[in-house]
Order: sequence, then structure tokens, then C-alpha cells
Amino acid sequence: MRLGIISALAEEQMGLIDAMQHVEKQVHGMREYTAGKLWDIDAVCVLSRIGKVAAAMTASILVEKFRVTHIVFTGVAGSGDVGVRVGDIVVAESLVQHDMDASPLFPRFEIPLTGQSHIASDRDLTRRLALAAREFLQEEPDTPQLHRGLIASGDQFIKHRAQLGALKDALPDLLAVEMEGAAVAQVCFELGIPFGVIRTISDNANEDAPVDFMEFVHKVASRYAFGVLQNFCRT
Ligand code: ADE
Repeated sequence: MRLGIISALAEEQMGLIDAMQHVEKQVHGMREYTAGKLWDIDAVCVLSRIGKVAAAMTASILVEKFRVTHIVFTGVAGSGDVGVRVGDIVVAESLVQHDMDASPLFPRFEIPLTGQSHIASDRDLTRRLALAAREFLQEEPDTPQLHRGLIASGDQFIKHRAQLGALKDALPDLLAVEMEGAAVAQVCFELGIPFGVIRTISDNANEDAPVDFMEFVHKVASRYAFGVLQNFCRT
């Protein structure tokens, strides 16, 4: 396995590169790719920046130029369900681009000419991510929960209750909202690369989200990402 590890922001990946051995850095297309050994795994870490196009480009380059065989996206997300709380972790079983709507040519959410709307993550990577997350959360105060299910991505930061309500009406199984995962899913689906997405909930995707998101990203996100990925790479 050669594992590509993508996060949108530096805070979501902090510490991982410091933990790498035999590091080789390469800049390509305005991103820095860091290859090396991460515990037992041959890995390439990179920051995609925010949004679906940025994430899709990064995933494509990881595969085509850096020859990764698997991809994991790790970062934060807004809650998409009342049962999913700030500090909980969501591991995606499937991902949908919530702003994809080519109707009436194709059903809402379907990616034109692929026949896909919800793209399933790789079962084995997802199982391993969930195990790593569960192990990490056991040591955390206030018993945060692990959830597995649907994550929706779009080029919008969800910050109004009504915005989330409309999404939830259309996607009742929704657990979390973010801005990259489903784009990585499409690239990996099309290139035949197994992938997983893991997200820590930073906010409730409501009017408080901008403040909660910033605070969580600065104070908590890197500790979570580091802890979970360490467990993942060691198993
Ligand atoms: N990532 C973290 N919180 C988010 C939100 N509320 N909307 C979209 N992406 C997010």
C-alpha cells in the first residue's frame, strides 16, 4: 500500500509530517506533497485547500504523479444530524455531492454520465478507519461517539439552519456536511482507487458554525487527526 493522506487545512494534518521518516518534499500545482514512512506505512501527505475542485485535483495528482494506491481524507465537518455532536467522529460509508443537480437531464445528485449519486467508500479502509477512531475516542473525555454513514460535500460552508434543513429533507440519512470528500470519492471511483473519508464534527452547520469551526480547527482538529491516523497506520 502507498497511502495518500489529504486534508483541506494545515490544522487538520498538523503533526503527521513531523512524524514521517525518510521525508521527500515536492511542489506540484501549488501544493506541497510530502512522501515518507508514517509508522508502518508508505505515505504521501498533502493539503488540498478547500472545495471540490481543489480536492479533486489533489486526489488526481496523488494517483497519477505520486502513484498512491489508496487515499484517506481526514478533516472536520459540520453535523448533519441531531444525533451527531461536536467532537464526534463520522466515517463515511458513502458520499454525495449535495450541490450536483443536472435535473431534468439527470436525477438530482447524480453525477452525469456515471450513473452514480452516492459513491461508496472502500469497505476495508472504512473498517480500519472506524477501528482506529474508536480506539482514539475511548481515551477522550465526555465519551464522543463514532458514526458511520452518509457524508455530503458541496462548495458551500453550511451556516444557516434552513440550509441544513433543506439538505436533510433531500438526504434524510445525512450525518455530516463538508466541502471535499465526495469530490475525492468521484476521482477515486473513476480511477479505481480505494478510498476512505473520516471527519471530526467541528460545528452544527448553523448560525454558530463559523465561530465554532474556527475554534475547533485551532484547538482540537490536529490532535484528533494525529491520534486516529497513528492508530490507523500501526494496525
Ligand atoms: N466543514 C466544517 N464545518 C462545515 C460546515 N458547516 N459546512 C461545510 N463544511 C464544513
